[in-house]
Amino acid sequence: MSTNEQVLIIGGGVAGLSLALRLADAVPVCMLAKGPLTEGSSLYAQGGVAAVLGDQDSVESHVTDTLVAGAGLCDPEAVRFTVEHSRGAIQWLIDQGVAFTRLTEPGGNGPFDDYHLTREGGHAQRRIIHSADSTGRAITTTLEDKVRRHPNITLHDYHIAIDLITTARLGHGPDRCVGAYALDRRSGRVQVFRGRAVVLATGGIGKVYLYTSNPDVATGDGIAMAWRAGCRVGNMEFIQFHPTCLFHPKAKTFLISEALRGEGGLLRLPSGERFMQAYDERLELAPRDVVARAIDSEMKRLGLGCVYLDISHLSADFIHEHFPSIAARCLELGIDITREPIPVVPAAHYLCGGVVTDLGGRTDLPGLYAVGEAAYTGLHGANRLASNSLLECLVMAQAAATDILAGPARQAVAVVIPPWDESQVTDSDEEVVVAHNWDELRRAMWDYVGIVRTDKRLARALRRVQLLAREIDEYYANFRVSNDLIELRNLVLIGELIVRSAQQRRESRGLHYSLDCPRLEETQPPRPTLLSPPRAD
Ligand code: FAD
Ligand code: SIN
Repeated sequence: MSTNEQVLIIGGGVAGLSLALRLADAVPVCMLAKGPLTEGSSLYAQGGVAAVLGDQDSVESHVTDTLVAGAGLCDPEAVRFTVEHSRGAIQWLIDQGVAFTRLTEPGGNGPFDDYHLTREGGHAQRRIIHSADSTGRAITTTLEDKVRRHPNITLHDYHIAIDLITTARLGHGPDRCVGAYALDRRSGRVQVFRGRAVVLATGGIGKVYLYTSNPDVATGDGIAMAWRAGCRVGNMEFIQFHPTCLFHPKAKTFLISEALRGEGGLLRLPSGERFMQAYDERLELAPRDVVARAIDSEMKRLGLGCVYLDISHLSADFIHEHFPSIAARCLELGIDITREPIPVVPAAHYLCGGVVTDLGGRTDLPGLYAVGEAAYTGLHGANRLASNSLLECLVMAQAAATDILAGPARQAVAVVIPPWDESQVTDSDEEVVVAHNWDELRRAMWDYVGIVRTDKRLARALRRVQLLAREIDEYYANFRVSNDLIELRNLVLIGELIVRSAQQRRESRGLHYSLDCPRLEETQPPRPTLLSPPRAD
């Protein structure tokens, strides 16, 4: 079979893996991942997957909670579509062999009655199915095993996609995506990968901020590539800061799951006093934006380095059964969570926006799809409800697979794709430029485009980011590409898209909070922020 017929999936998280499995019995699949296949946010997901499973729960209730968290900006059709497919998505995972945590006593006669469902902020019901506190690892490793054994899937790990190949760029209109250039990090060679359809499953952007819960691969590559290829992005200003990341000099990024608060964890000041009652009647289970802002405000008010999350009033057996990985990691760092509170701070966690897609995962560019955290479907609105993102990865991967398989097999025109041109570049003589600009960008984004924003800070951030972008473009034009340079070029663009989106929103809504526009704009219907790239011609 020719590579023209294969589907090219860029990314090996839950979105990419589940899409590959949904496609591979029907078409050949080629997967790229820039590091080890599954290194990405999916692997580190803790809390679980939100779905309508319990007999007290309903699609209406899950839809309502999602809409409320999204603060008027969710696309109701996307919400209903995702929630209606939630049971099917969980059943599919169980059929693949994912071992979710079961109740100690058998539950009832329903298909999901034996599973333990936990709670997280903003959910009116217990509806988070999980594998203790390592849900992402349980799902990812199960799917990875199947992907590795599937004869129709070819894997290329340590291959970082640089840019998409489109017919317009090759001078063969009308425009369509036909592949991608990727750097083989082991050999240093840039290769061409073709696809009858190309799917961005490249995850989020957390590394644009100094402090983040995300792993190093979360540099917004897919969003940046799509933008450069002419696709719109939506709602890039809505960055979710997770309220509780471990605060410890030796813990680079470690999340303390919201499920701890779901099971009764309390937020405290160093004095032991609770403070959430001053901010929201839902206390520790208020939506994340509210909790993150409350912590930020207490830290600023009292000049604190962190606040504390206390679960030590629960039994040690319960803690070890439900949060074994968190308990073990904290203990390695000298914190016994069964006896003492955990020092926590907010950190950048999740991007609610991304590449604009329809409910089949299609982007603005024919032949190009986006699924998972890289995509903007309209599900999350101005704030994502906890544990709705793994759900979105699964549901949208299935939807994209259906759409891709419905298209003709030989959509990708057999264009001649030239090899990567390195004739004008040399090896870099100043790697320090890349390292310095990484640090500067991430600090500027943290200081000026964080939990609380102002017009002045955003203007300052835009100036810095645009200056960095010019320097990096120049560097990119002159030197051979490296992994760090590709990521930095993308991150700077992501930073600019976030700042420009934030500047356009003249109100405070959900995760976007501005001291200059502290109120909701109520005179006009809420609208997503859509940015279009400049046209090449
Ligand atoms: P990822 O899992 O991030 O995978 C991205 C993939 O793309 C990786 O394989 C990466 O190598 C590859 N890639 C990226 N760029 C390139 C490139 N240029 N070339 C080649 N490959 C590339 N959500 C929930 O619903 N429930 C939870 O409990 C939960 N817990 C979380 C805990 C943590 C610590 C974090 C960080 C996130 C959590 N989230 C949770 C959010 C959720 O995990 C992510 O939104 C989701 O896993 C994203 O999946 P994805 O497949 O889109 O991307
Ligand atoms: C968590 O376990 O707190 C993360 C859940 C999520 O990001 O949805």
